[in-house]
Amino acid sequence: MVKMNLKEHDMFEPPEDFVKQANMNDPDIYQRAEEDFEGFWEKLAENVDWYNRWDNVLEWNPPYSKWFVGGRLNASYNCLDRHIEKRSDKIAILWEGETGDVQTYTYLELLDATSRFANALKGLGVKKGDIVSIYLPMIPEAVIAMLACARIGAPHSVVFSAFSADALAQRINDPASKYLITCDGYYRRGNVIEHKGKTDEGLDKAESIEKVVVVKHAGNDVTMQDGRDVWWHDIVESANISCEPEVMDSEDMLFLMYTSGTTGKPKGVVHTTGGYMVGTTVTANWVFDLKEDDIYWCTADVGWITGHSYIVYGPLSNGATVLMYEGAPDYPDKDKIWEIVEKHSVTIFYTAPTAVRMFMKWGSQWPGMHDLSTIRLIGSVGEPINPKAWLWYHETIGNGRCPLVDTWWQTETGMALLTPLPGITSLKPGSVTRPFPGVKVAVLDNAGNEVPRGEGGFLALLAPWPSMIRTVYKNEQRYLDTYWSKWGTGKYLSGDGARQDEDGYFWILGRVDDVIKVAGHRLGTMELESALVSHPSVAEAAVVGMSDEIKGEVIFCYVTPKLGAIESEELKDELSKYIVKMIGPIARPEGIIFADELPKTRSGKIMRRILKAIADGKEVGDITTLQNPEVVEILEKKVKEEVAH
Ligand code: WTA
Repeated sequence: MVKMNLKEHDMFEPPEDFVKQANMNDPDIYQRAEEDFEGFWEKLAENVDWYNRWDNVLEWNPPYSKWFVGGRLNASYNCLDRHIEKRSDKIAILWEGETGDVQTYTYLELLDATSRFANALKGLGVKKGDIVSIYLPMIPEAVIAMLACARIGAPHSVVFSAFSADALAQRINDPASKYLITCDGYYRRGNVIEHKGKTDEGLDKAESIEKVVVVKHAGNDVTMQDGRDVWWHDIVESANISCEPEVMDSEDMLFLMYTSGTTGKPKGVVHTTGGYMVGTTVTANWVFDLKEDDIYWCTADVGWITGHSYIVYGPLSNGATVLMYEGAPDYPDKDKIWEIVEKHSVTIFYTAPTAVRMFMKWGSQWPGMHDLSTIRLIGSVGEPINPKAWLWYHETIGNGRCPLVDTWWQTETGMALLTPLPGITSLKPGSVTRPFPGVKVAVLDNAGNEVPRGEGGFLALLAPWPSMIRTVYKNEQRYLDTYWSKWGTGKYLSGDGARQDEDGYFWILGRVDDVIKVAGHRLGTMELESALVSHPSVAEAAVVGMSDEIKGEVIFCYVTPKLGAIESEELKDELSKYIVKMIGPIARPEGIIFADELPKTRSGKIMRRILKAIADGKEVGDITTLQNPEVVEILEKKVKEEVAH
């Protein structure tokens, strides 16, 4: 294969030998999807196994969609049972711990473990429709727990393991879950993280929980509460190894996933079974080009949507071998990721731009220490990838010959919506290319009209897609207000800015609302602000995402202290710790400055746009509408000092 040295404005054509073997290499697919929207999705639904075929492909009463209406299926059946005949001894999960130990589960073993745990959950009283919270790190039991819930029709709600005790409590209290699955501890950079202790602290504020299942993973000492806490290994030991999957309606809830929005409270995104399974199964197959002998590695955490769709449901539904890694990318050294790629002959590698920029900063010598020649496709997700990082990734990790799929999507979309198809799409460094076939995307202005090519606007979806959010759990109004109120109920507001170039390629410009992506992690500025103002020394706070070369954005806080509070470095330190306690280490602020006043409009609204410009060291633009324009200069000076600090 010819190695190309791409430059920023070059196009990367899909290599011929890749095209030949690609799962999807027919360029007419776009046209066919266009001509017969429902027929297209109906055909794709045949990639999933159903107990009962659907009566209708789609019922669309904007903004409510139902897909494959009347169809019946089970997600865990699709990820496990249906592979047994052909793949019972194939490895489904290849797990590597931080200490280097490896655990594997074949499809048969994963089915058995899932069935046992599903029965154990039933034994605890879990019934179809009950919501089960899962608070587990990157260990195989996280996947087993999710699939076991799916098996018995109990929607799971996974909470990212690095979220704090308070954040856990909030995510348990909203759906009032009665069941929680956690572990004793896990390894991070050679230390044992005391996870059960943190869980207990959260449970002090979450009274709905009746039963807690604890995985013994790190072997650290824990306190088990009598009558409430049980060990995973104890309850599975006596559980039956066979568990009939529950026959679920296509529109039954598969899971809840809390995500940050533009208010202080995260929202529970509801995903249902049929459409989600169709969407993730097909995108995993076409976008990652999964083949029987691939070793597929998505470095996301199961606690986020990427882990749900592209570690668990999509790849396993395709019968793939999925690699999971417990630890940090730079421990014990900065070649850890590449050591794992070489050790397990990884063929598909999917990660976030922050990770790519970090690898780039560490230098090519680290990947250079290992044989990465097994890699045949690389992917990116979670934030915009700048052309420079794209080119480095393509050249250094993809050896200049692998297709790079930059996939745009959201917790709410369930599956990748803007993405190359690697056997068809010519790539442009930094662009997410075009919509997946059957997906209708546009860049709109404030009034809902399409903007001319080359101009920026709001990224919108103009038609439903199978794995779309169905509602916000117990908060219909928020569903309507957040996504469907800007232009009416037929046009979904994504919250991202975008631009289409002269070739129709899409370029994502980042969030245009109060959501920020810090190192690919989704956080709400309002959530951070409400954490800050709950501190006794804080009168008012405004949080913005400050641009960062590696992490995309970092958290920058403007704090007005209460009268009598002392503006000291100690207080800054305390506030930083406080925010971490309230949310988790991913929310640690990069900078905090004290501001006697925040820039406000005459009606008293804080102008975050100005605060962001100040944090980024940019021109603030027009400030004549402010009631207190004089604060801008004061803040600019303070930010300069803080950033230099
Ligand atoms: C951003 C993650 C640019 C975007 C799957 C979106 C991206 C938010 C890309 C959703 C990409 C995701 N290029 N930006 N390829 N993928 N985003 O819910 O701002 O954690 O709205 O889902 O991530 O974040 P979420």
